[in-house]
Amino acid sequence: MIELQEAAYGYGGGPLLSEISLRLSPGSFHFLTGPSGAGKTTFLKLCYADLLATAGRVTLFGQDTSEMSRDEIAQARQRMGVVHQDCEFLDHLPLSENISLPLTVAGRGGVEQQSNLSELMGWVGLSARADALPPELSGGERQRAALARAVITDPDVILADEPTGNIDWEMSLRLLQLLVELNRMGKTVLIATHDLGLIRAAKAQVSARVLRIAGGRLQLAGADL
Ligand SMILES: Nc1ncnc2c1ncn2[C@@H]1O[C@H](COP(=O)(O)OP(=O)(O)OP(=O)(O)O)[C@@H](O)[C@H]1O
Ligand SMILES: [Mg+2]
Repeated sequence: MIELQEAAYGYGGGPLLSEISLRLSPGSFHFLTGPSGAGKTTFLKLCYADLLATAGRVTLFGQDTSEMSRDEIAQARQRMGVVHQDCEFLDHLPLSENISLPLTVAGRGGVEQQSNLSELMGWVGLSARADALPPELSGGERQRAALARAVITDPDVILADEPTGNIDWEMSLRLLQLLVELNRMGKTVLIATHDLGLIRAAKAQVSARVLRIAGGRLQLAGADL
């Protein structure tokens, strides 16, 4: 459903990523690792067509991103939940409204909104913070809220960029559990992370492939992970 074929990207000062080929099949679970600055966030941006490949092809649900209109990209994104590394919120809206915003935007408010919202806020441990404004939240609370917001529309694909960077181990495992359960329901999951402990914990539960970006190329990480 997301496929990169010899895709390349550079911000201008030479290629950052080159000859990247990967198929994110329905129901697959991938981790993406690699040193800071290697291009993990850039890679994710290619996957949700925030950036277009400068060579090669990226297809979303069968469509070549370089040929998609803005509307087609917006439609494809409705099927994707993205947790951004720098989670941003609308600061004037309470947390609960920020988290349910994707449902509201998709015109799917009402009962579905209420039940999904309270269940998810409970899962990420934010029930008591429903009325807080985003600037009042800690870094970890923001990340937990960003994950809840990314999955509230029940997307087919979840792309998470360092979703546990500011979060204690116990809560990280809880967020991982949420992603593992969504994967068991058939969702495609890709997590970019430096947290090797998280990868090990996941591998005990699901068959996850671990990829590593280094020197602009994507490799399968060693079996020791
Ligand atoms: N908008 C941009 N314009 C120019 N260069 C950029 C831009 N965004 C990222 N870069 C550069 O591209 C390289 C890869 O950045 P990217 O954010 O993809 O790395 P990363 O692997 O996600 O790193 P981290 O682990 O620190 O999040 C970095 O050298 C960064 O400075
Ligand atoms: Mg990054």
